[in-house]
Amino acid sequence: MSVSTTKPSLLGVEDAKALGIEQMTMLFRDHLNPGQLHFMKLLGFNKIKVETAEGMYYTDQNGRKILDFFGGFGSLALGHNHPRVLEARKRFQDEKRHEIAIAFMSQYAAALAKNLAEISPGSLDMVFLGSSGSEAMEAAVKVAERAAGPGRHKVVYAENSFHGKTKGVLSLTDSPLYRGQFRLVENTIRVPFGDIDSIRNAFEADPQIGVIVLETVQGGGGIVGAEPAFWQELRRLCDKHGVLWVADEVQCGVGRTGRFYAFEHAGVVPDVTALAKSLGAGKTAMGAMIARRDVYMKAYGKPGTALIHGPATFGGIGEACITAIEGLNVLYDEELIDNSAEQGAYLLSELQRLQGKYPKIIKDVRGQGLMVGLEFQDFSQTLPAVLRPVVSVLDEKLKGSLSGFVGALLLRDYDVLVAFTEYNRNVIRLEPPLICRKEHIDTFVSALDSLLGRGVIAIVRDFVASQVK
Ligand SMILES: Cc1ncc(COP(=O)(O)O)c(C=O)c1O
Repeated sequence: MSVSTTKPSLLGVEDAKALGIEQMTMLFRDHLNPGQLHFMKLLGFNKIKVETAEGMYYTDQNGRKILDFFGGFGSLALGHNHPRVLEARKRFQDEKRHEIAIAFMSQYAAALAKNLAEISPGSLDMVFLGSSGSEAMEAAVKVAERAAGPGRHKVVYAENSFHGKTKGVLSLTDSPLYRGQFRLVENTIRVPFGDIDSIRNAFEADPQIGVIVLETVQGGGGIVGAEPAFWQELRRLCDKHGVLWVADEVQCGVGRTGRFYAFEHAGVVPDVTALAKSLGAGKTAMGAMIARRDVYMKAYGKPGTALIHGPATFGGIGEACITAIEGLNVLYDEELIDNSAEQGAYLLSELQRLQGKYPKIIKDVRGQGLMVGLEFQDFSQTLPAVLRPVVSVLDEKLKGSLSGFVGALLLRDYDVLVAFTEYNRNVIRLEPPLICRKEHIDTFVSALDSLLGRGVIAIVRDFVASQVK
């Protein structure tokens, strides 16, 4: 039989690396996400092609170095391309190790699970491996729902929460935009974040509640935490009412707040937790659900129930596991969790100093470790009349939000990248790699100081000017 399949016109790896900004823009528009380009243009992100990335910096097509205080929303605890992680991956490839771990047991998945159990307090011992935060959270909610048992199928979640965009956890994500017009699961109850009375009332009123799902620090909500007393009382209430507590540590875990898990600050342990982002050491897609042993065993512990939620095709894939294993070792060997606490305290104190200097611009600074929120005053109503028409041509989401203007100008004029929050447009999220040193914070703070020193009107004008260039 003659072969008749002709190869389509495919780009090769070298072609991909060599794409210029204009070609990238075209391909992004035609095949990825044309709407997203709009935001990239507003923020000036569309002018940058990252060529390389190392440590705290990106380097673009013109050799310009950009200081990364965005940190992939907390995915880059070790910074970009940590040499030990690169070396471990290279060795793994050179030795032609196996990847897909469905038929045989995987020594890499087993070792990663052991490490996670070792790190996790209490009897958080049982691990499910996946490839994203959403997948880890889906696994977390499912294991808890099954363990809670029949008649306890209702799930409590918080206002301003973000747990992912797959359908199950989207039902626990408090965003009208993301929820769109999807038909979501209906066994949910929403409470204000950090409000123990609402939780107590809900538990007392509805014996069908079996699970509560909370980010320990809300990331997309604008870096919002709760006092240790809240978590301690939550633990007590969960025990009293037989409710399982799922802690979403996808963004705030892996040392981000100065402890491996943010819930450790309160000295309490949830029943189930989930990690992703920095678990991949900045090089791979890795998510993990970690459950209390008895919770896991109740849900999936028998041969008849073992395959209900697992394994996933790419769960525990070899190179991803050894990347995470090396990443966790680096995190402790380089004392990055302590560094996060130390540098985070310094960053917060420096931002508080700027808040004292610019009280009319900065409304609040908050956070723990290197998970810091910088909230600007809402000036959508107070902007001088002369500037309102100019700003009103901008996108609905950025209008009146100083954080968009500040972020765009920090990149354009100071080579610093920061992140925004999904739900509170007045908040900038600072989640630099945990390898961050004092000099990086000084660079960031002096850039912000210089920019804010221009005053709000000049900032808005400069931003608008950048749009017409
Ligand atoms: C707290 C939290 N949970 C879950 C997710 C979903 O993770 P992923 O985007 O990897 O699916 C995110 C992502 O930002 C997150 O911040």
